[in-house]
Amino acid sequence: MTSFTDTFIRAELVSFARDPGEDNMPQPSSLEHYGDGLLWIKDGHIQAVGHYADLISELPTDSQVLDYRGKLIMPGFIDTHVHYVQLDIMASYGRQLLDWLNDYTFPEECRFANHAHAEALSNAFLDEMLRAGTTTAQVFGSSHPGSVDAFFTACQKRQLRMLVGKVLMDRNAPDALMDGTSGIADTERLIEDWHGKQRLGYSVTPRFAPTSTKTQMDAAGALLRNDPTLWLQTHLAENSGELDWVAELFPGSRDYLSVYEQAGLVGPRSTFAHGIHLDNGMRKRLAERGANIAFCPSSNLFLGSGLFDREAAQETGMAYTYASDIGAGTDLSGFGTLKSAYQVGQLRGQPLTAWQGFYGLTHGNAKALSLDNHVGQLAPSYEADFVVIDPQATSLLKRRTQHCTTLGERLFALMMLADDRAIYETWAGGRCQHRRD
Ligand code: GUN
Ligand code: ZN
Repeated sequence: MTSFTDTFIRAELVSFARDPGEDNMPQPSSLEHYGDGLLWIKDGHIQAVGHYADLISELPTDSQVLDYRGKLIMPGFIDTHVHYVQLDIMASYGRQLLDWLNDYTFPEECRFANHAHAEALSNAFLDEMLRAGTTTAQVFGSSHPGSVDAFFTACQKRQLRMLVGKVLMDRNAPDALMDGTSGIADTERLIEDWHGKQRLGYSVTPRFAPTSTKTQMDAAGALLRNDPTLWLQTHLAENSGELDWVAELFPGSRDYLSVYEQAGLVGPRSTFAHGIHLDNGMRKRLAERGANIAFCPSSNLFLGSGLFDREAAQETGMAYTYASDIGAGTDLSGFGTLKSAYQVGQLRGQPLTAWQGFYGLTHGNAKALSLDNHVGQLAPSYEADFVVIDPQATSLLKRRTQHCTTLGERLFALMMLADDRAIYETWAGGRCQHRRD
């Protein structure tokens, strides 16, 4: 039975059922590819996916099929680490992490005490994300609880699947940003109001060890113990100055990761941004706990933080995800994140295939965030969050993709050359929420 909410789209479809691993040519077995496919959407979910020729007979005769032949549909992109409150300081010139935080980030985040500003930026940020094809993200607010209320409200209106948290920071920051003892109480109130509502989830968010006291981190750990459905996001081992500072602040700690372990912050729903300066011991401990590192390549290049070691992650079984880390990142687009990841990989002798990249951006990121029962694949019963990609969006893309003879080549050209102009439409919750002008 079809209903008035059914939508049918004819296009090329690309999705990954599993991690393609090192399986490269010509197409990995985990790939689900329909050159002339049909996507059937019903009540915000995917009802069926398959070859157009196979499915067309199942549709009622008067069904309207959107004809997107020449375009390519993939699951919506997922960004596992991003700061919505830093949208307006992207591309602030030339400092490494700690100076960049003091000079640009903290002054900017002070503006989020103003609720109207938080509302405006929440909407501006979501517009930009959808324009870039990102439908789900794990997001830092500022330390003001209102910044998270504003963001959740904006996501709720658009029916997006999003994880968000209020930054906890009770030391080593401007007075206007420190939350003192109210930080945990505000977090509890936000969890009560928002966690598990519609498609929204709460991510407990101590900024990083230097700006939270041990008392605050322990209290954050207690929240996670009380409710294992909560997420955790913070930063770890991004920059050498940061490492020295953590060693000074926590002289009794065996290493940086152990500061978080002692507070009970390392678990299967924990994302640690960066993880550049880790040893294999720390990588294995993260792997044992099922935590993931958010690899933020454009941010790491922009702040000169270092080159993430994907091979060491694979060898030690440590999960990693792909993220923009706006505002230190320079690209909201998932294509841009993969391009930077490829470049970082080249400098390490670890090139990234398009299969690995697009799997990571979709199913891989969903899996690491424990959202893989909901999003990240084009498959029946999944939420209908997807992007319609136009491989001929620019004259250059048109020239380049015309010369591609395989899907692998075409996806690689998109990964290196595409940007938000190649996102023709972004759908979330079964609705088209962005169409390119
Ligand atoms: N470490 C602590 N806070 C931040 C932040 O806002 N951005 C980045 N890149 N690293 C951090
Ligand atoms: Zn960050």
